[in-house]
Order: sequence, then structure tokens, then C-alpha cells
Amino acid sequence: MFPPLKFENNVLKLLDQRKLPSREIWISCRTSRQVHEAIREMVVRGAPAIGVTAGYGLYLGISKFKGSRAGFLKNLEREAAFLKTARPTAVNLRNVVDGIIHVMLSDPLRGLQKDRAKHLRPVDSSASGLRMKIEKFKRRVLEEARKAHREDDRLCRTMGRLGAVLFKSGDRALTHCNAGGLATSGFGTALGVLYAAKAQGKKLFVYVDETRPLLQGARLTAWELQKSGIPCALICDNMAASLMSAGKIDRVIVGADRIAANGDTANKIGTYNVALLAKAHGLPFYVAAPKTTFDFHCPGGKDIPIENRKSEEITEGFGKRTAPKGIQVWNPAFDVTPHRLITAFITEAGVLKPPFKKAFRKLK
Ligand code: MRU
Repeated sequence: MFPPLKFENNVLKLLDQRKLPSREIWISCRTSRQVHEAIREMVVRGAPAIGVTAGYGLYLGISKFKGSRAGFLKNLEREAAFLKTARPTAVNLRNVVDGIIHVMLSDPLRGLQKDRAKHLRPVDSSASGLRMKIEKFKRRVLEEARKAHREDDRLCRTMGRLGAVLFKSGDRALTHCNAGGLATSGFGTALGVLYAAKAQGKKLFVYVDETRPLLQGARLTAWELQKSGIPCALICDNMAASLMSAGKIDRVIVGADRIAANGDTANKIGTYNVALLAKAHGLPFYVAAPKTTFDFHCPGGKDIPIENRKSEEITEGFGKRTAPKGIQVWNPAFDVTPHRLITAFITEAGVLKPPFKKAFRKLK
């Protein structure tokens, strides 16, 4: 288990993933602004982890609120809209925040909605009655954030157990980026499957793409695998084809940031290359992701918003300039793998094979 976040005494503590593997430093967030910045600057990263983080961010955004119930609702919605701008591609962030808003509107805040519509006055409009209600609403937001946190752990463990059957002892897997404990509430999606296979006594070997430009593979996946005792080797991103043609890979497994209704999948830039290579070498290509990563409102890959990040990540990554000043740069954080290249999705509802639109009904 590699939990990247914990919520204690009204403080969200995040393991600063920018500093790994050399230093393990936890930073504290007390406001939604700090949470927004931590997500944007990738102190915390990985689709499920930023979803869970944003849930706590929403709570921190309203935890100090004082005022009317209608004002509370406005504030809650404003904080939700703000947090959703932190990073655009991973849909988990939106799914968790909107999920909490939905619960609050459909149950505890029913009275508030009416206030907003200016049809009703608060039922108990005395100052102390109002304070009590608002405090109750805040507690409910926190409960929902905690629920999303626990739920992510449950989904990852179920996925791990169900996906592990696809691996057999002696398999050599390739993975890209970090879809491990650090990218979730602690267990991982793609790596969670490998951890579950190991727990079942299977002996695996994992090749880890270093994952340019931010090196999530080299810094985070290699760190997790070493700590969990799974033998592994680090490769540069441009070595996968050679490895496959040498017959040294049996299957590929990655995570996802957003899966469209037709199965097209956004994941870390470079995932599409690996999927094409797997197809060319006749290797299975698996995507492991919980239901919070699916976006059934998004018909296909071209509808997925792709985050562009600053050019310095490429020209002077980790503080060392490696390209001439003034050079133009293209730096999308994610790419989209077309569904035709994906062998199966590993989800908490089982291993889903094509045709995906039909198979995805199990997740609804
Ligand atoms: O930019 P990052 O590091 O947040 O990108 C993370 C990935 O692309 C992961 O593969 C994905 O979020 C799946 S995490 C279980």
C-alpha cells in the first residue's frame, strides 16, 4: 500500500510526489486553494488520487463558511466549479466533486434548493438553528469525501483480484506511467492487478517505461515495485519496441485518466505508442480502471479534453536545461488510445472485452 494522502484533524496531508523517490515529504493543505494548487502542480497526481483529493478540497472550501443556507449552497457550487479547473483530463476529479454535489442536492440540502429558488425561507431561521444546520451540511460533505476515499480503495482491490487471473507465473509485463498506489488511495489500478497477482503467488517481472517528460515510471512506479518486492527493470520510453521484438514482453497493462463511451482511452502521453507496438507484436493490451474513470457522456476519444503543460517540463526538466532557449515545444500530458487497440478493460465489474459499448453496461 502506498497511500498518497490522508485527512486528519481538518488537514489534508499529501505525499509530495514531485520529490519522490529521493525524499518522502508530506505537505499540508488547509484550504481549497492549496488543494487546487497541489493538484495542478502535481504534488498529487493520478486520476483516482486527484478525484479523492478534490473531494477533501471541496470540504475544506466550505468548512469555514458562515452565513445562510442559500449562501452555503452557492459557496459549495462555486468551490466545486473552482476545483474542477485544476486539471482537465482525468474525469475522476469531476466525478467525485459532482457526485458530492449531487448527494447534497438530492438529500440533505433539499431545503436549500428551495431557498435558492426563493420559494421558501429556511425552516429554522433562528441564528443558532441555522448554525446547527450548516454545521450538519458541512459534516455531510466531509462524510461524502471520506466515502469516495474508501470506495476508491474498495474498487481498486476488487479490480486487482479480478484482473490478476489474466496473469500467470513467469509473465513479463510492461507498464507506462504510474498507475499504482500513489495514483489512487493506496492500492493502485494497473499495479494493483500486479500486486494482487503477486499475493496469489504468481512470479512476475515488470518492465517500467520511464515516462517522459515527468518520469512517473522511473520515479514512482520503479519505487513502488522495488518496495513491494516485484522484480522489475527500468527502460527508456523508446526501448519498448526492441523489447517486444526480442520476445521479452508477454502483456501490457496501464491505467487510464478518462475512458469514453466507445472505449477510447486517455492516459499518459506515450500510452498510444505502446498500444500500437503491442498490436504490432500480437500482445494483449489491458487498461485497468474503476468506474470513476469512465465518462459515458463523452462519445469518443476526440471529445476528451487533453491537458497541455508548460514547455519547461521538456526543455529543463528537473532543473537542467537540455534544449536551446527559445525552442518551440508541444507538451500534451495525455494521448488517446483508440478502443480497437485495447484487448480488455479490467474493472470492478470484471474483465470487459469488445464490443465495449455493450460490455460497459455492467458498469452503469
Ligand atoms: O499526469 P499524471 O501523472 O497525473 O498522469 C497519470 C496517468 O496517466 C495514470 O496512468 C492514470 O492517471 C491512471 S492512475 C491509476
